[in-house]
Amino acid sequence: MKCDMKTSTQLEKDLYAIDNTLLVRAGETINKKLLNKIAGLAGKIRYVPIKETRLEKDLIKSFNDTRYVNILYPPEINLKVINYINHIKIPEKIMFELEHMKEISPYTYHHIMIIAILAGKISFDHSIRYKYSPDKAILLSLFHDIGKSRIPLSILDKRTPVTQEERRILTTHPLIGYVLLHYYFGKDHKKYDFSSFQHHERLDGSGYPLGIKKANKYSQLIGVVDTLDALISERPYRSTPYSLRAAIDLLLEEADKGRFNKSLVRTLIIYSRRETPGTKIIIGQRGRDSAPADNSYGKTATS
Ligand SMILES: [Fe+2]
Ligand SMILES: [Fe+2]
Repeated sequence: MKCDMKTSTQLEKDLYAIDNTLLVRAGETINKKLLNKIAGLAGKIRYVPIKETRLEKDLIKSFNDTRYVNILYPPEINLKVINYINHIKIPEKIMFELEHMKEISPYTYHHIMIIAILAGKISFDHSIRYKYSPDKAILLSLFHDIGKSRIPLSILDKRTPVTQEERRILTTHPLIGYVLLHYYFGKDHKKYDFSSFQHHERLDGSGYPLGIKKANKYSQLIGVVDTLDALISERPYRSTPYSLRAAIDLLLEEADKGRFNKSLVRTLIIYSRRETPGTKIIIGQRGRDSAPADNSYGKTATS
């Protein structure tokens, strides 16, 4: 669902940074001028390494998520991804944001960890390795849902499908994240195409918040793994998650409709068709997995 410009550039509640600085007032229009002003408030940015933090431990732990065993293989590549993680520094206030997220919504925090390592791992794949840098993919993935911490938990962790109004509120999280990142990176924000703002955009223009057809390439990568994780994760509003194969089949259908980058989805297909990680890749010898009976894709918000 597209947001119109009004809802995509204004927030209903005042937005505060993690250090309680007021960034945007309710109803204030968020435009380039305001974003530059917010970036100017930040002063000198203190960067901290991920290495030897709880964040590093949680990222490494996420490699043990058995749902992704076919993608997170072989271990040598995982070690390379970990090596990249250990060279990344992030603004300290983003570290605080992620710690806060872990406290209030462990599901969203774990989802962010998974997206970061999947995006890092896929960046190594032979078909796309020349177009992505794994450290940037990891870094931008860590920020992609940062705005969700400002969505009421009653909506974020709702046990039944969200209503249209709740979905509208949920869809403000990319804009909230975009604003927060301008403050946390200050003047350095110019170095990044923040994926937080575009990971729900789709190549046919059916995404949000702007409905643009050309999201930046990191957003496209994050958008694909983000949807995959939303489909195969256990969520309170559905009894059975998608299997990895059924989820990838759905992503392929969506790519055929022009919504996702096909080469990214093809990479996932190659991973998913490894019968056993480490054995030879088998393509074209399998039927389809069906969607769960209470399939809610497209009816409820994905992450
Ligand atoms: Fe997400
Ligand atoms: Fe999101």
